[in-house]
Amino acid sequence: MRKNIVAGNWKMNKTLQEGVALATELKEKLASAKPNCDVIIGTPFIHLATVSELLEGSIIKVSAENCADKESGAYTGEVSAAMVKSTGAEYCIIGHSERRSYYGETFEILKEKVLLALKNGLKPIFCIGEKKEERESGKQNDVVKAQLEGSLFNLSAEEFSNIVLAYEPVWAIGTGLTATSDQAEDMHAYIRSLIAGKYGNEVAENTTILYGGSCNPKNAAELFSKPDVDGGLIGGASLKADDFKAIIDAFN
Ligand code: 13P
Repeated sequence: MRKNIVAGNWKMNKTLQEGVALATELKEKLASAKPNCDVIIGTPFIHLATVSELLEGSIIKVSAENCADKESGAYTGEVSAAMVKSTGAEYCIIGHSERRSYYGETFEILKEKVLLALKNGLKPIFCIGEKKEERESGKQNDVVKAQLEGSLFNLSAEEFSNIVLAYEPVWAIGTGLTATSDQAEDMHAYIRSLIAGKYGNEVAENTTILYGGSCNPKNAAELFSKPDVDGGLIGGASLKADDFKAIIDAFN
């Protein structure tokens, strides 16, 4: 059966020292109370090696927030999937709406990133989700379907089984406006039906689909109670160890 996961996405927050302090605090909190789900923290590139080392032997896994769409070479400022893997990170967030909208990441670019992440032994946490206008005009299903088809459905079933999906409606990210648990469930069930159509029921049932967008200690239990919501990708609330732990505890 698929895993339940609570993953943090620190985005562009925390200096190295602050990140180390947060990871240390979280490690200590989770050592005494074993969680009922997998726990991942997604950190900026500069934290990865230090935080991975610090978390060795802990149940917390580490993720990058991005990787390059090229293998190696003259791409100043970029960080390759192989480099991410060499830090000890096991996951890589790909296709976050902030990358799509602020950095022009297209379906094609994201497709390359996914392939390179997989080739280098990283598990992509692939983000999809519609914008406010798209939901208001009832296009959310079409948008999400195009995102899956445009960047993931080229994969074989075996490759796809390494993907974690995160449904993050753009209108809910950092806005305090959470999707209702019914809205989340409707979309997650739809996403799972698309996976079943492409790869069959077994792959669909084994795919973890996270919800992201203003998920917090107050609403996490309700969201996670839905059958197709397998956990969360947490932004703001992952920056405080107590809040992140409280969201993890929603699985208890
Ligand atoms: P918030 O939890 O801050 O809304 O961010 C969600 C997100 O973008 C996680 O990737």
